Amino acid sequence: MKIRKIGYSEPPPMNLLLLADPSIEFIEDYLNRGETYIAELNGAAVGVYILLATRPGTCEIVNIAVSEKYQGEGIGRKLLQHAIELAFQGGNKTLEIGTGNSSIGQLALYQKCGFRITGVDKDFFVRHYKEDILENGIHCRDMIRLSMDLPLKCPK
Ligand code: ACO
Repeated sequence: MKIRKIGYSEPPPMNLLLLADPSIEFIEDYLNRGETYIAELNGAAVGVYILLATRPGTCEIVNIAVSEKYQGEGIGRKLLQHAIELAFQGGNKTLEIGTGNSSIGQLALYQKCGFRITGVDKDFFVRHYKEDILENGIHCRDMIRLSMDLPLKCPK
């Protein structure tokens, strides 16, 4: 598997990006402001993430997704490790990520990779999304904010 930055004229894998965020408006904003990386297997995009510089010395993974067919095979972890390394190489001191209160697997993965919970943006998804989001039988209302101090090696 190869992870690479997508070119300026290259179409982003919207099908994957939409797995992580149902808002096309948010995705387009992130694509315009951030750097997009894809994981390729036999020439096809199977994973994606967008890294966004948010403040001096701080960046955030604002979208990360793996094709449903390949989920649970370690690609998400590899993408996170790539983003962590890239953020550090870029001179950042902090890397952030946020996900819904209902995203149990994502919260597990991010903490396994070294992110710590720093806060809760209460009712973020209620304020910003028209449709209710239900996941794992839980109403997704709040954004759980996580961050890591760099450098940090992702635990194996
Ligand atoms: N409980 C505990 N651990 C879990 C659970 C769960 N319910 N679900 C997954 N995990 C753990 C696994 O145990 C595994 O850990 P391990 O390596 O120690 O065994 C890890 O999470 C999964 O690792 P990967 O296989 O590397 O993850 P995957 O390739 O499936 O990618 C991702 C993870 C990106 C979250 C993928 O499932 C996906 O695309 N989901 C849909 C889109 C999405 O929700 N994206 C994130 C939204 S938030 C944001 O974009 C900032």
